[in-house]
Amino acid sequence: MNLEIIILAAGQGTRMKSPLPKVLHQIAGQSMLQHVISVARDLNPSAIHVVVGHGAEEVKEAMAAETLQWVVQEQQLGTGHAVLQAMPRVDERSTVLVLYGDVPLIRLDTLQGLVEKATKAPALLTAQVTDPAGYGRILRGDDDSVLGVVEHKDANQEQLLINEINTGVLAAPAADLKRYLPAVGNANSQGEYYLPDVLAMAVADDKTVAAQLATSELEVLGVNDRLQLNQVERECQLRQAQQLLRDGVSVADAARLDIRGSLHCGVDVSIDINVVIEGQVVLGDGVSIGPNCVLKNVTIADGASVHAMSHLEDARVGAKANVGPYARLRPGTVLAEGARVGNFVETKKANIGAGSKVNHLSYIGDCDMGAGVNVGAGTITCNYDGVNKHKTSLGDDVFVGSNSTLVAPLAVADGGFIGAGSTVTKAVGEKELAVSRAKQRNILGWQRPGKDSGEA
Ligand code: UD1
Ligand code: CA
Repeated sequence: MNLEIIILAAGQGTRMKSPLPKVLHQIAGQSMLQHVISVARDLNPSAIHVVVGHGAEEVKEAMAAETLQWVVQEQQLGTGHAVLQAMPRVDERSTVLVLYGDVPLIRLDTLQGLVEKATKAPALLTAQVTDPAGYGRILRGDDDSVLGVVEHKDANQEQLLINEINTGVLAAPAADLKRYLPAVGNANSQGEYYLPDVLAMAVADDKTVAAQLATSELEVLGVNDRLQLNQVERECQLRQAQQLLRDGVSVADAARLDIRGSLHCGVDVSIDINVVIEGQVVLGDGVSIGPNCVLKNVTIADGASVHAMSHLEDARVGAKANVGPYARLRPGTVLAEGARVGNFVETKKANIGAGSKVNHLSYIGDCDMGAGVNVGAGTITCNYDGVNKHKTSLGDDVFVGSNSTLVAPLAVADGGFIGAGSTVTKAVGEKELAVSRAKQRNILGWQRPGKDSGEA
């Protein structure tokens, strides 16, 4: 069977109260439209047609990386009109699936089931809901067969009591849509061309219209405002966290993990509460992430730990390394195996060698550090002279005493030793000791100041 998918995305989304076209609002770090395109791709269609109207250029631009057939619907005259705009591009022999750019949680297996039912006649996706207000209601005959859909605004009292609703998602032979859609009129309370009208037309042609029931109301929830966007976001996050649990990751609380990108985990990974994952994150075997950490585009190797309240971006953490609590690894940070970056340490473009330690209160930027280095508390690399950035390089087994200021460009050779409180501006050779601080004077018999007499 040849499948073509039409995604409707022309609506304005006034209730979002945002200049951004509705379908570009994000769920789990990706636009809603991107989510729909992803599930559409999983069905292996020969083409995906996207009907755009409001913000068409912005939507196209945002999806530039995708191969899509764009159809512009100048005026939003109804869902039937929207699908009709795409039909000239659709092969007569295809099966067509209609999706919506603002219904992002739709499941692959639901759609597979629906498409299978639509090879000879249209089939629609329905849902049982507690409050059907606003939705089109499913009309069924005495034998339970689908007769059609009546829109809320066109329904009579009896029809309004029906709580099986039209999700809008529909599949049909292209030939049926090509035949019925041009005949759909707009003589209804909204003056719109309704896509579901093709169902009654098929029934009138003695076709049997099949219905597939969605797994839940949320699966087919269309987003019209930020409340619904948030509902969908939470559902999506919960699904992701539950999948991780099924995959063997210990997630402390499935309701307190946010993945706004992709997360790949090895065996026996544990993730504490309130962790935010952005971009592409890879966690090796046995990695543990403490509470309240933000990880953006990071790779963490086997056995490493990131402790509470740490923020890592564009960084790589080596095996068995330790980060935090309260560490900030900025872009270009690479920790080798067993390295340690402790509390209130900020790093940027820094290579921290195997087993090296920067345990407390430091800034390490534009720095290459060898193995076995110990950086004392309060050490600062002065990498910026107000105009240019300069590098600091520390050899293996260097010892930097606490509260040292390393003025770059600077090189400290293997085994170099820097006395605490030094401001180091000149290269330090192998195994040399560098001390640059005011000499201590002790004054004998010195008198402490007494209390003022009160006169100014
Ligand atoms: C539609 C269905 C209704 C169903 C409901 C589910 C029709 C006539 N009614 O109603 O039975 O219960 O969805 O949410 O289909 N769109 C376009 N171009 C248009 C019109 C709409 O692209 O000309 C897009 C919109 O951006 C929106 C979607 O289609 O994403 C649904 O359109 P809307 O008019 O909001 O349909 P509903 O009134 O919700
Ligand atoms: Ca409408």
